[in-house]
Amino acid sequence: MTIREIQEEILQLKKERDFCILAHSYQSAAITEIADFTGDSYALSVKAKDAKQQNILMCGVRFMAETVKILSPEKNVYLSSPDAGCPMAEQMDREMIRRIKQKNPDYTIVAYINTTAALKTICDVCVTSSSAVKIVSQLSNDKILFIPDCNLGAYVQKQLPDKKIKLLDGGCPVHAAVTAKQVKAAKAAHPDALLLVHPECRPAVSDAADYVGSTSGILQYAMQSEAREFIIGTEMSIAETLKNACPDKRFYPLSKTLICQDMKATTLMDVYHCLRDGEGTEIELDRATIAQARLCIDRMITLGG
Ligand code: 13P
Ligand code: SF4
Repeated sequence: MTIREIQEEILQLKKERDFCILAHSYQSAAITEIADFTGDSYALSVKAKDAKQQNILMCGVRFMAETVKILSPEKNVYLSSPDAGCPMAEQMDREMIRRIKQKNPDYTIVAYINTTAALKTICDVCVTSSSAVKIVSQLSNDKILFIPDCNLGAYVQKQLPDKKIKLLDGGCPVHAAVTAKQVKAAKAAHPDALLLVHPECRPAVSDAADYVGSTSGILQYAMQSEAREFIIGTEMSIAETLKNACPDKRFYPLSKTLICQDMKATTLMDVYHCLRDGEGTEIELDRATIAQARLCIDRMITLGG
């Protein structure tokens, strides 16, 4: 079968089996073309809440599918590739944070959404890359423990100097691998290009950027900008999406290593087999986890909206 034929079958199966397909912006064009909605982590969380279908298939990584299940526990939520996790989400577990929380009882625990459902149960509020500054700025407590991403946390601290943000040593292995030296080399190679980066990059990289934002933020900025050339400091797929969307502009990946294997784990065939043969992994969370984790996700949606 050709890609087009597989896509057509998926669209048919989606209707017959009452599926909504959500895709993160890092997914391939073959997948985003058949998705009901594509967006960044924040937009996916909000959309998931409103989906009318009984079954939801998340093309992304596990924490995204868990977020959908937490917001829609009555629905069947599937992750199309069982291997798609986010390494950052596994870096800190509930026991570790519980101990730190006990030693810092006057701190509000802010969890990046890239965390497990179990860890969310003991946090006060979730944030995403597009909503973190807005949400933290509204918290009445100035003392914040921001987990797990120290780079996003440092970015929030820079925007909100009046807050006292405690950081731990977590982060995205893909974005944190980008160096200031690579920024210098990319700027030297493309002196007229604007640098757009994700806040999961290190401060030395974000500080040199013309724009820092979420995956959707970067896409929107580049599409709307009058500029003609851009260096893209996030997963390679975003530069590819932009090349297709704006053939008259030029996009250069900041580093050749900006590849997230977990986000690449989902293929169009996985989506097809999930819908046709029920091969996806169904997300199962116990009721107590859902109820507790939901508090900090609901708070994120209230403060981030
Ligand atoms: P966004 O919320 O910007 O889509 O980020 C999710 C992510 O995992 C980036 O690496
Ligand atoms: Fe996780 Fe980084 Fe991959 Fe995003 S790019 S899913 S933060 S490992």
